[in-house]
Amino acid sequence: MTPESKSYLAAALEAAGQGHLMGTWSDLTDGERTNLLTALEGLDLEQVQRLRERLRAPNDHAAKSFEPPLTFPLERSAEQAAQAEHASALGKRLLRENRVGFVLVAGGQGSRLGVDGPKGMVGVGPVSGLSLFGWHAARLSAAQQRHGGNITWFVMTSSSNDGATRAFFEEQDFFGLGQQNVHFFTQEMLPALDQEGRIVRTASDALFLAPNGHGGTLAALRSEGMLDVAAGLGIEQFSYFQVDNPLVRPADPLFLGLHALADADMSSKVVTKNDPAEKVGVLGLADGKLGCIEYSDLPEDLRTEKDGGGQLRFRAGNIAVHMIRRDFVEKLTKDGLLDLPWHLAQKNLKGLDVQGNPGEVPGVKFETFVFDALGAAANSVTLEVRREGEFSPVKNAEGPDSPSTCRLALTESFGHMLQAAGLDLPERDQDGTLPLEVDPRVAEDESEFCAANESAGGLEVLKGEHGWLYR
Ligand code: UTP
Repeated sequence: MTPESKSYLAAALEAAGQGHLMGTWSDLTDGERTNLLTALEGLDLEQVQRLRERLRAPNDHAAKSFEPPLTFPLERSAEQAAQAEHASALGKRLLRENRVGFVLVAGGQGSRLGVDGPKGMVGVGPVSGLSLFGWHAARLSAAQQRHGGNITWFVMTSSSNDGATRAFFEEQDFFGLGQQNVHFFTQEMLPALDQEGRIVRTASDALFLAPNGHGGTLAALRSEGMLDVAAGLGIEQFSYFQVDNPLVRPADPLFLGLHALADADMSSKVVTKNDPAEKVGVLGLADGKLGCIEYSDLPEDLRTEKDGGGQLRFRAGNIAVHMIRRDFVEKLTKDGLLDLPWHLAQKNLKGLDVQGNPGEVPGVKFETFVFDALGAAANSVTLEVRREGEFSPVKNAEGPDSPSTCRLALTESFGHMLQAAGLDLPERDQDGTLPLEVDPRVAEDESEFCAANESAGGLEVLKGEHGWLYR
């Protein structure tokens, strides 16, 4: 680097409030200087400026009016039941005709769970120890078995876990889905800032970068060429789901069919929130715009308000399961126009302070959320589903939403399947869980399990070290 270009770079950083990044230049080795220059080349200073403005922007955009969304309910009228039947038939046809691509987002850092490596590698199969990635793959194979067609799986990673994720898929032989059917793509990373808007470093030659949130999926689908891949395969809809919830049913014909029948741009599944104090976001209209209303943004009186049926009026708990039209993503991301709001996560970041001292720097990570795109959808379906059957995420190492609550939710759902088929349940473990697992390829709900049990071949049951495995 010539002295001129170095002073040009230093001046540009100084002007952007990032002068500290070159502050230790004279102490760096040649190798460290090369690393730092590479990191700085990847930096978009205009974007950093926008992040700084967002950091300083007051949080005074509180909405004035809130309405619950129109929901397709679990308790259905005769008319809705007929509509559901029609929608399921359509959904099955769309699956068979390969018009759906499956988008798994797995770019997050799983910091609350705190495991080494991608969260998708965590074992959740109560008996088999099958990983989250393996569990989702089994659900996709199940869809292929049931509806025909070919599975196309788009897996989003971030630079923090891309290599390890790809290596795991290879080691597992792409879970039998065929390497050609799995398309990895990576999301963008954003620099984390300290409270004064200065980029935090993890070392004197490396910036603290974090994935830009699951909202980054939409831009990454375009920038990584996935929209073209999907268009080339005739895929019209994306089924969006997150890596941490093994109960999710990405190939649900009812959801897909309702979404397609309504000609919706983006649709959502919700679970009923029974406890007003449960800190989940609810889907609803804020100032007339559909989106996810954060727990803290919903006024206390509305949080507890009941409707005529005695249920919470704002009960549509967001589980981040969506159906999204491909051409909606194309429209949103055209010419780099997508402009989802940035959400700030205040964290103590392991890194260097501006003087270069290592420690915990009070800082901010910036993320966009995929459900913020709902506001741009011309039509949207909100489908209510059973929490016990479809939602139990692994977020924390222990306590609520941890591997043990997820194991309990999975095993209870398998227990219901056995009971529906009139089979005896095994004795519960000491911690109260049923030592049971039903492979999704056998059944994903009670009626499928009963049908499999009554089929000519019957069910294959294996007794393993950790319990009974139906497969
Ligand atoms: P979470 O918001 O729970 O984040 O992600 P996380 O990274 O898994 O965990 P914490 O917050 O660090 O503890 C929900 C889903 O969105 C994906 C995650 O991989 C998970 O499937 N996600 C999140 C991304 O793909 N990219 C992101 O930038 C953030």
